[in-house]
Amino acid sequence: MLSKTAVVTGASRGIGYQTAPKFASEGCEVLALARSIEKLDVLCEEGGKQITAAAVDLSDAAQIAAYCKKLSDTGTRIDYIVHNAGLLINKPFMELSDRDWYDMLEANLMSGVRLIRELSASLNSPAHIVLIGSMGGFQGSSKFPGLSAYSSSKAALAVLAECLATELAGNDIRVNCLCLGAVQTEMLAQAFPGFKAPVSAGEMGEFLYDFTVNGSRFFNGKILPVSLSDPKS
Ligand SMILES: NC(=O)c1ccc[n+]([C@@H]2O[C@H](COP(=O)([O-])OP(=O)(O)OC[C@H]3O[C@@H](n4cnc5c(N)ncnc54)[C@H](OP(=O)(O)O)[C@@H]3O)[C@@H](O)[C@H]2O)c1
Repeated sequence: MLSKTAVVTGASRGIGYQTAPKFASEGCEVLALARSIEKLDVLCEEGGKQITAAAVDLSDAAQIAAYCKKLSDTGTRIDYIVHNAGLLINKPFMELSDRDWYDMLEANLMSGVRLIRELSASLNSPAHIVLIGSMGGFQGSSKFPGLSAYSSSKAALAVLAECLATELAGNDIRVNCLCLGAVQTEMLAQAFPGFKAPVSAGEMGEFLYDFTVNGSRFFNGKILPVSLSDPKS
């Protein structure tokens, strides 16, 4: 069987850093993206030669376009996208500047919009796109002070999954959004200092691998909560 190729964004630390090697250990070629090339180099050393890293700022449309063109020029075909990169700025609503809002919308929403658009010609059929959302952006979930821009950007990303699933169905491309609850990472510490998450980044990486490879048989256009508890409980 031909090996599959997965793009994993936000692979330089946290959940993405744990997800990329899981794909590699299961025989996939992995294209690991983030800005911090030194950390990505460590990922490649630890995760094996099936991981190829590239420093791409996903808030920069030109960098995404250049990277995706390179893939297309080399004939790289893609089976899975795990769009996991994300940015959280924890500030009360009245202190959030327009810049803060734009930065989070760029990193959490437009990154996915542009990446999927630019990679669309390289996607195999079937393919599965998994957008990593947040419980903060899941309708009806508990909401927390300081996370209005972050949660709003993740809510928009979730609805994008529903819309894209419809538009891409004709090409046998399935799209889902997983709204994660607390996972022990640097970002969690920034959002909820001192809170101890019930799930490690490694455990979540395993789940993301499994869902990406198997979940498209059962889910399309779904916004799924992946959460044991919230920091209020
Ligand atoms: N941890 C949680 O409890 C939790 C809960 C709900 C949802 N999530 C979501 O899960 C995802 C992973 O979270 P995490 O906790 O692992 O976060 P993290 O430890 O802060 O890692 C975030 C990753 O995103 C990358 N990134 C950020 N901005 C980027 C940009 N402009 N271009 C390219 N890469 C960028 C970072 O790499 P560079 O800095 O090297 O670019 C890093 O690899 C995020 O989307 C987050 O919103 C996490």
